[in-house]
Amino acid sequence: MDGNGRWAKKKGLPRIKGHFEGSKTVRRVVEACIELKVRYITLYAFSTENWKRSKREIGALMGLLNNFLNSELNNMMKKGIKFKVIGDISLFSPGLRKKIISGEKHTKDNTGLTLVLALNYGSRAEILNAVREIADKCLKGDIKPQTIDEDVFKRHLYTKDIPDPDLLIRTSGEIRLSNFLLWQCSYTEFYFTEVLWPDFGKDDLMEAIMEYSRRERRYGKERA
Ligand code: IPE
Ligand code: MG
Repeated sequence: MDGNGRWAKKKGLPRIKGHFEGSKTVRRVVEACIELKVRYITLYAFSTENWKRSKREIGALMGLLNNFLNSELNNMMKKGIKFKVIGDISLFSPGLRKKIISGEKHTKDNTGLTLVLALNYGSRAEILNAVREIADKCLKGDIKPQTIDEDVFKRHLYTKDIPDPDLLIRTSGEIRLSNFLLWQCSYTEFYFTEVLWPDFGKDDLMEAIMEYSRRERRYGKERA
């Protein structure tokens, strides 16, 4: 979800207004995913690198997250959304942490769209965390190093219950991954659009999915 700041700047508004508008896009896109029968969506809301932003901006982003958690739980139950967070939330305020965990708990048996928020998420941190957990188990004798394969590794990632993404969309014309799901995106189709996140809507999502449907996924096999 990129381009909130530029959206605001273009309109002569403070960056925070861009984030506010971006949070409306989240609701719109989640709605569109349900209509389009998408099963999983993961939104990169706050990266491990975003702590470098000003205190003010971080505070505003946390505030928006808080509002989202307060206002959306009812809606998630109504729509059958399963809510999940990936990332290390231990650095978040106790209040936010409580709301996140209770949101996950409340919605865990829902069977509709799985909505994943990446919060204080960084792929390198996630991979290192998995390495530490596995190393620990090796030391305890619970895992033999020779048996560590992709499956074992995957089970130690934050995304253990989530399939690898089919499609990755990045808005606002930036063409990079920025530490997002590096392991999981090995065979993901990438889609980049100039549209700024606050302007992104159902039509843009449909366009991305149409483009995705024209791609041939070979996973290393020869062309048909
Ligand atoms: C998205 O917009 C930000 C987050 C989800 C944290 P940006 O804040 O990166 O917007 P630009 O790149 O300044 O336009
Ligand atoms: Mg940006």
